[in-house]
Amino acid sequence: MKMTLRTGALATQTAPCLVLSVFAQEPLSGAAADIDRASNGRLKALWEKGDLSGETGRTLLLYDVPGVTAERILLMDFGKSSALTRANYRKTLAAAINAIQQMHAGEAVLALPAILPDGMDAYLAQREAVMIAEERIYRYTHTKNDKHAPKMPLTALALWLAEDADPAVAERAIAHGAAIAGGMRLAKELGNLPGNICTPSYLAAQAVALEERCQALTVEVLEAEAMAALGMNALLSVARGSRQPPKLIVMTYEGGAPDEQPIVLVGKGLTFDAGGISLKPATEMDEMKYDMCGGASVLGVMEAACALNLPLNLVGVVPSSENLPDGDANKPGDIVTSMSGQTIEILNTDAEGRLILCDALTYCKRFDPALVIDIATLTGACVIALGKHATGLFSSDEALAAELLTAGDRAGDRAWRLPLWDDYQQQLDTNFADMANIGGREGGAITAACFLSRFTKEYRWAHLDIAGVAWLSGKEKGGTGRPVALLTQFLLERSGLM
Ligand code: BES
Ligand code: MN
Ligand code: ZN
Repeated sequence: MKMTLRTGALATQTAPCLVLSVFAQEPLSGAAADIDRASNGRLKALWEKGDLSGETGRTLLLYDVPGVTAERILLMDFGKSSALTRANYRKTLAAAINAIQQMHAGEAVLALPAILPDGMDAYLAQREAVMIAEERIYRYTHTKNDKHAPKMPLTALALWLAEDADPAVAERAIAHGAAIAGGMRLAKELGNLPGNICTPSYLAAQAVALEERCQALTVEVLEAEAMAALGMNALLSVARGSRQPPKLIVMTYEGGAPDEQPIVLVGKGLTFDAGGISLKPATEMDEMKYDMCGGASVLGVMEAACALNLPLNLVGVVPSSENLPDGDANKPGDIVTSMSGQTIEILNTDAEGRLILCDALTYCKRFDPALVIDIATLTGACVIALGKHATGLFSSDEALAAELLTAGDRAGDRAWRLPLWDDYQQQLDTNFADMANIGGREGGAITAACFLSRFTKEYRWAHLDIAGVAWLSGKEKGGTGRPVALLTQFLLERSGLM
């Protein structure tokens, strides 16, 4: 989608569609008031009829408004201005973009509301508008004919700026919004692809394709032999149950000074998780194609970093495998020696994410990282704890945890912290190895994080459990692109670009 800026009188803007903001039962203000004056009170007349006092998220389409050059006017109702929340703001904009795509417009000029929800400034409001538009435009079509495609997709959107608005801020908002949305789009698409297409080799090929699009990016893919030489037996033990060769994808983005320590992102890239010998129940097992969404979010952040030219060094590491039952698969009770030298008793082969991550986390030491963040659809327990709204955040680094929480709040891609206290560590005790790979039913998301913490002692580290947020189920089934926005926000702030 092409994004531009418009200034000047609204009534004389040429556009197939002009989108204006109104608030329920409140006198017209800002852009809507301008158009009302230009049209000799046409909007006020509607308002008096009561047609504008709908609920949040309602839109109303007007044709042939006198005194206005635009072919159509779309009014979006943000409800009561005093009750405007970020969620309502998003909902209304999404409804407006949907409405535009049902017309034969293709292009629109958008005047955002003059009153914004708490915690949102002009920059965030504009950035979010770009992201919502991109989000609504995205359609999964890789393996189907798009029968319900919009009448005419939105191909160009202009943000209209009032006289007192700062165009430099808006330009920055558009650039950032487009970059984040692009990263989210990649993450969504990879998540949505079925397991028989999006295999570890496919993910690796996508990383190589990304390298070709991004100047500052170098990609290296480690094969099973290289992993064996490094002693990555935990990772390899999971891959043994699959016919698909595992991959360790390493993406290096060099935007900072050569001697600057990199931020390392490690994403779980389990392209299908059947559970292995500890087989999962059949219901909704298809959703385990999304078990690579952590890895996909790392690719997405890498793409966003390139688009933003972030002035820092970044490394993305994606251990990738399938987890299937097989004659050569892990069995409950098997013991493996991880790359760190610590032994692991695999009491449940379905707790495989931590097995592939622990070796990738040990591998990270070689980058002398400033900090490491891993992102994983790690536990069903996290979904039970936090539902589908918040990413689970775990870290014993107070400053890093605070930075990530703030980034999530600002980006509208929120995380919530759960404890990582030593009290939970004993749940991983076993008589036969240094640790078990499961800690029982209690605090399952926490004991999974505790497991990972045993491999991250030598650097600053945080863990994001995205099991609840990476995709939606039911009618809306599809990848969300989370937490690309949180992570990119974190990096923007670290780069001093915010
Ligand atoms: N990929 C799953 C976690 C998951 C489950 C994410 C459901 C989203 C929805 C992970 O590999 C897994 O199977 N975890 C087990 C761990 C258990 C065996 C300790 C789980 O959560 O049931
Ligand atoms: Mn599993
Ligand atoms: Zn899994």
